[in-house]
Amino acid sequence: MLSSTLIVALGAIMPVSVDAFTGFSRMKQLVKIDVLNPADLNNVGSTDGDDSFELLGDLVTLSFSDLTPVGRDITDLLMRTGGSPESDVAYINVPALNSTACAEDTCCVWKYIADEMTDLFRGESGRCTKWARMAVRLGFHDAGAWSKATASEGGGADGSICLTDEYTLPENGGLEDMCLQMTTWYDEWHNQKGFNISMADLIRYVQ
Ligand code: HEM
Ligand SMILES: *[C@@H]1O[C@H](CO)[C@@H](O)[C@H](O)[C@H]1NC(C)=O
Ligand SMILES: *[C@@H]1O[C@H](CO)[C@@H](O)[C@H](O)[C@H]1NC(C)=O
Repeated sequence: MLSSTLIVALGAIMPVSVDAFTGFSRMKQLVKIDVLNPADLNNVGSTDGDDSFELLGDLVTLSFSDLTPVGRDITDLLMRTGGSPESDVAYINVPALNSTACAEDTCCVWKYIADEMTDLFRGESGRCTKWARMAVRLGFHDAGAWSKATASEGGGADGSICLTDEYTLPENGGLEDMCLQMTTWYDEWHNQKGFNISMADLIRYVQ
C-alpha cells in the first residue's frame, strides 16, 4: 500500500536519529523514531536501552482486543512483542466511485484518493518525489506539538496546520506548498465531490 511503500523508501534514505536533536525532549517522548526504519522494526528485541516502551493515546485507553488490526500491530511493534511494519493487503475490484457499493465500503473512496496522491508522490523512476517527502514531514508537523500534559485540550494531529495559518509559522517553513496541495485535495474530496473527507484524515493517510 501507499503508506508502507513510502515508509520503506524513507527508511532506506533517511534513518533519522532524534538523539541528534537534544533540545526537543518533549517531541522525543512522542515520536518513536525507529518506526522510520523497517530494519529496526524487524529486529524485534534489539534495543540500545534508550527505547521507550510507553504507549500513548488510544493505545492506552482501548483494550488490545478493541484495537483494529493496525492498532494491534503498532502496539506489538512498540512493545517489541511482534507485529508487522508492512502490509501486503491489496484492494482489488474497487467499486465505481459514485456507486452504492462504494458508499457502503469505507475504504472505497480512499482508494481513489490514494491513486491521486500516488500520481504526485511517485516520480517517473518510481522513487519518492519532493511532494512525498513534504507530505510525510507535514504529518509530523501537524501532530508534533501534541503533549501528554495537554492531551485533554486536543491539538495534535487535527489538520490545523493547513486549516489555519499554522503553516506560516517559522518552524513549519517549507511546508506551505504541501498545505496548498492538501487544501486542493480537501476542496475536491470534502467539498466538490461531497465525501466529507477531513483535512486531518487526508494528512494522516500519507503516514
Ligand atoms: C524533533 C524532530 C525533528 C526535527 C528537529 C526535524 C527537522 C527537520 C529539518 C530542519 C528539516 C529540513 C527542512 C528544510 O528543508 O528547510 C527536516 C526535513 C524533513 N523532515 Fe524532519 N525533523 C524532525 C522529525 C521528523 C519526523 C518525525 C519526520 C517523519 C515523520 C520528519 C520528516 C522529514 C522529512 C520527510 C523531511 C524532508 C522534507 C523535504 O525533503 O521536503 N522529520 N526536518
Ligand atoms: C461523482 O459525483 C460528483 C458529484 O456528487 C461529481 O462531481 C463527480 O464527477 C462524480 N464522479 C464520477 C466518477 O462520476
Ligand atoms: C462530516 O464529517 C464530520 C466529522 O469529520 C461529521 O461531524 C459530520 O457530521 C459529517 N457531515 C456529514 C454531512 O456527513
